[in-house]
Amino acid sequence: MQTNQGRVTKDGIRIYEQADFAGMHAAGRLAAQILDDIAAHVVPGQSTAEIDRIITQMVDDAGATSATIGYKGYQHASCISINHVVCHGIPSDKLLKDGDIVNIDVTVIVDGWFGDTSRMYVAGKLSRKAERLIQVTHDALMKGIEVAKPGNTFGDIGHAIQVYAESQRMSVVRDFCGHGLGRVFHSPPNVLHYGRAGTGAVLEEGMFFTIEPMINLGRPETKVLADDWTAVTRDKSLSAQFEHSIGITANGAEIFTMSPAGKFHPTYG
Ligand code: MF3
Ligand code: CO
Ligand code: CO
Repeated sequence: MQTNQGRVTKDGIRIYEQADFAGMHAAGRLAAQILDDIAAHVVPGQSTAEIDRIITQMVDDAGATSATIGYKGYQHASCISINHVVCHGIPSDKLLKDGDIVNIDVTVIVDGWFGDTSRMYVAGKLSRKAERLIQVTHDALMKGIEVAKPGNTFGDIGHAIQVYAESQRMSVVRDFCGHGLGRVFHSPPNVLHYGRAGTGAVLEEGMFFTIEPMINLGRPETKVLADDWTAVTRDKSLSAQFEHSIGITANGAEIFTMSPAGKFHPTYG
């Protein structure tokens, strides 16, 4: 009998089965639950190492595994990226200050399935310009997800995100992208957050991948610090990011990493 088992497209993208959505849903839900539960700890005076310690405990308590501990030598259960840090901020003894904007990115493994999500938090009082950046970045991700359906292309996703971010006079980071995931962490395709409509691989039911745009208030260029992980904006402008893991369905996308408490956006809207 012919089945989808193990089918990979010519672009190297795995097509998963209907039954696999449940595994991704469980992994995504745990990652999102952890991001819900950590919100109360993102306050001025808190260290990012302590936040990471609590996340490590939450993963453990759930009987799950952190995908990032031991990944290419990374030693933490989360990436915590403050202000002009674009992504892959390493938890440290540094204390959060009033007005910091913070991305926390968690990837867990549940029964072999990967759930990867990140969102923005605010320590203390949010500035107007940071609020705008966070809103635009959130909405850019959602505009990407809106066009994630069979027959559209990966270029359509990138295009939707880029057009929106640039219409708000913000820029899209080019140096990092989303990725396929499922029973592996990072797999094809590279999901670009910019691009031309109609280009790239065609989306099919059963594809699992992340969309995780990083949007800057200034220019898009980044550099990686001497620790080999921390990516920052070259012009020191503020950067924000939101990430969902999704699966393509017959007529759209299922978001595996929906916040159980509806707290994905920091204003809880
Ligand atoms: N969660 C990140 C992503 O969205 C990857 C982090 S890898 C790490 O793909 F090693 F930096 F944790
Ligand atoms: Co990711
Ligand atoms: Co992530």
